[in-house]
Amino acid sequence: MGKKIKKIGVMTSGGDAPGMNAAIRAVVRACSYYNIECVGIYRGYQGLIEGDFKTLSARHVSNIINRGGTILKSARSKEFRTSEGRAKAYKEIQKAKIDALVLIGGDGTFTGGMIFNKEYNFPCIGIPGTIDNDIFGTNYTIGYDTALNTVVEVVDKIRDTASSHNRLFFVEVMGRDAGFIALNAGVGAGAEEILIPEEDLGLDRLLEALKRSKRSGKSSSIVIVSEGDKIGKSVFELADYVEENLPQYEVRVSVLGHMQRGGSPSCFDRVLASRLGVRAVELLLDGKTNLMVGIVNNIIDTTELEKAVKGHHKINKELLRVSDIMSI
Ligand code: F6P
Repeated sequence: MGKKIKKIGVMTSGGDAPGMNAAIRAVVRACSYYNIECVGIYRGYQGLIEGDFKTLSARHVSNIINRGGTILKSARSKEFRTSEGRAKAYKEIQKAKIDALVLIGGDGTFTGGMIFNKEYNFPCIGIPGTIDNDIFGTNYTIGYDTALNTVVEVVDKIRDTASSHNRLFFVEVMGRDAGFIALNAGVGAGAEEILIPEEDLGLDRLLEALKRSKRSGKSSSIVIVSEGDKIGKSVFELADYVEENLPQYEVRVSVLGHMQRGGSPSCFDRVLASRLGVRAVELLLDGKTNLMVGIVNNIIDTTELEKAVKGHHKINKELLRVSDIMSI
């Protein structure tokens, strides 16, 4: 049995995601509810190294549930990857009398937590917050649903102009290693083709599919390309290649970029963040550590941090089939 938890530190790390503020609020208020102190750690692991802390009470997190970004800021710390950096962080933690950490972020964040836990036997619980949804052990990560809605809204707008000009658009969406955003937003926005890293469609099949679209009398076509797509060309090279091979198409490219990470979180993300934040605090109070809290079939579940990092969250291939049928 570890020592009694009296003070919890909470941080956001890695790429930000809408709903991170809702998760911070949930952690702070759950601490308040259970009469323990909560400390906000600014700028992720870099702030941990530098002792950039502030005590947060229930009222400090008023009116943030609806705000995008993270009030605690985020960073990717190179220094924390070194044992010297982690030693500095541990010193700061001891100085501030923090007994446990809640880490909100993606796999890089969890890897940091795992190593820290191993080296210092320090209690850590992870909450998955990334728009990419690429974390094993949870059906959804915080921010993913909001990002999907953002992408669908933007692609609807692109469709308007594409249709007016009879154009083909390549729209690049985020997802460094995973095609969740591309696949789900692609189906939601009625894309003609969806290119994701998990499935290599191949250039020939893409050309064939686009030829068929043109023949079937479509006034516009949208191809959603995940930034991590493995087709071997950038979205601009891909557009040039298609224009050269299919001169019947006038092609344009739109890279959505970081706007996908911003904006007010959806209701789904706010509820998810609230549930995960409360459970993270309760797990620490129960003496649990080295776990990630996630949601599986609408039930809050836990996965070892190591499994969450090493496991592979698989896309739903059924959606590719649905997309094929819909784009007839
Ligand atoms: O948040 C995840 C992610 O959006 C990836 O899809 C993307 O590759 C990456 O972050 C880019 O983030 P940054 O510009 O902050 O390095």
